Amino acid sequence: MKIIVAGTGYVGLVQAAVCSEYGHEVYAYDNNPEKIAAYNSGEAAQIERYVNEPGLSSLIQKTLGKYLFFTSDIKSIIGDADVIFFCLPTPPNQDGSTNLTFYDAAAGEMAQLLAKRRSKKRMVLVNKSTVPIGTARHLEDILRTHNVQNVGVASNPEFLAEGTAIAQARKPDRLVVGCDHPEDFQILRRVYSQFVNHVRIKYIETTPETSEAIKYVANTMLLTYISFWNGVGARLGEKIDNVRIEDLRRGVTADDRISTWGSYVSNGAGGSCFGKDIRSLIYQLRNVDVSTKMLEASYEVNEYQKRYLVDRAINEADFQFSNKTVAVLGLAFKKQTNDMRDASSIKVIETLLGKGVSKIKAYDPLANEEAKETFSSANNILFDKIEYCNSAKEALADSDALFISADWEEFRGLSGTIEQVVKPPYLVIDGRRMIPDYEELVNKGFQYVAVGSMAMSPLVAPEIEPELEAAEA
Ligand code: UDX
Repeated sequence: MKIIVAGTGYVGLVQAAVCSEYGHEVYAYDNNPEKIAAYNSGEAAQIERYVNEPGLSSLIQKTLGKYLFFTSDIKSIIGDADVIFFCLPTPPNQDGSTNLTFYDAAAGEMAQLLAKRRSKKRMVLVNKSTVPIGTARHLEDILRTHNVQNVGVASNPEFLAEGTAIAQARKPDRLVVGCDHPEDFQILRRVYSQFVNHVRIKYIETTPETSEAIKYVANTMLLTYISFWNGVGARLGEKIDNVRIEDLRRGVTADDRISTWGSYVSNGAGGSCFGKDIRSLIYQLRNVDVSTKMLEASYEVNEYQKRYLVDRAINEADFQFSNKTVAVLGLAFKKQTNDMRDASSIKVIETLLGKGVSKIKAYDPLANEEAKETFSSANNILFDKIEYCNSAKEALADSDALFISADWEEFRGLSGTIEQVVKPPYLVIDGRRMIPDYEELVNKGFQYVAVGSMAMSPLVAPEIEPELEAAEA
């Protein structure tokens, strides 16, 4: 099949690469010529400047020029395509609604070109990125306004998680396709032929609106589950003596019906999807007069998680942040990605600087460059106090406290480095429960404040007054 993927961000590039692996002729289109040149170079470093996903650049190298082509000239390829996947940015507006400006501009441009096409074969425009319920219908209206013939619309949402996208795309748990016309379902069955009758993979065909809703319900459910653990599980460990969060998690998730994914308490879930999608669903439900209390609570718990550990350090460990140097480890929104979108570290650093911290020493195994870009484009002079380091050790040197914000595996062995580089009194704030031997650290005089457990301070031996000591002798 001849497939066009419009938009080569994270979703589009993965979709294009994976479709090309299955022998379709794939044209990935983007209106940014620099991106296209980088992808066309086939060089991992160039590709990863835009999307850094394990296995992606090697897959592109395998099919580039054979099945996969990058272009910024849509006119020359659009006429005889079978399918066009829309993978365009849909950022949030201030009020949580979805900004469809890029989407509408691209759809309008395509519709104008499609109105002039000579080939009369059936074509389907497919929404791959997350768009509000009813957007496929809206796309149909745009096509109708331009008098486009024989082009159907579909919803086929993306469920991939960053870091494992290529493996997941090769073996998805489900494919959801929402169309109105039998011939459009048939075209998408040909695109995904290897999955249609698969014994394990659910191939779900439904209406466009249901398909769009599935994506929102899935993501808000996942965030709600994380917020349940953060808002209930973590609080029990933080407020009630002798409740051990790790044992609590193991005990509860022993039930097959309750997943371990999401039960890892954290200083908030970030990423490009959860926050944006829950706010968008709240907006969409309010529009149809539905109470959104539950979704609001999930969102608020998650936002609170990103900030509250700094307050706990002040209240429970009596730490004064003013004029201190704080090392922040893990800047990306989770391990194995350089993606900074909605990363908890942004709120953490903002909160720390708001408390008067004089220097942040930041380190991420992969996302230092992206973090620099994120903080420098935020127009906040406070962020000038961030110094970027090349290792955890370098970040810890000469700091007064440490904040762990993302769950990179390399932080699990951090207690040795802490003991080596800094001396107590020193505060460790663990937003990911990455230090299994925290009790030893505390025994050695360090203070430890973590999500999911009470603050721990070293036992201070009562000071014996010198005269008393002399008298006793
Ligand atoms: C998510 C969905 O998982 C995916 O299906 C959807 O298509 C896009 O959004 P992604 O944003 O890549 O994927 O990340 P995910 O692995 O789901 O993690 C989201 C956030 O939740 C991360 O910050 C992660 O660290 C956090 N998280 C995850 C927890 O805090 N605790 C957990 O137990 C699991």
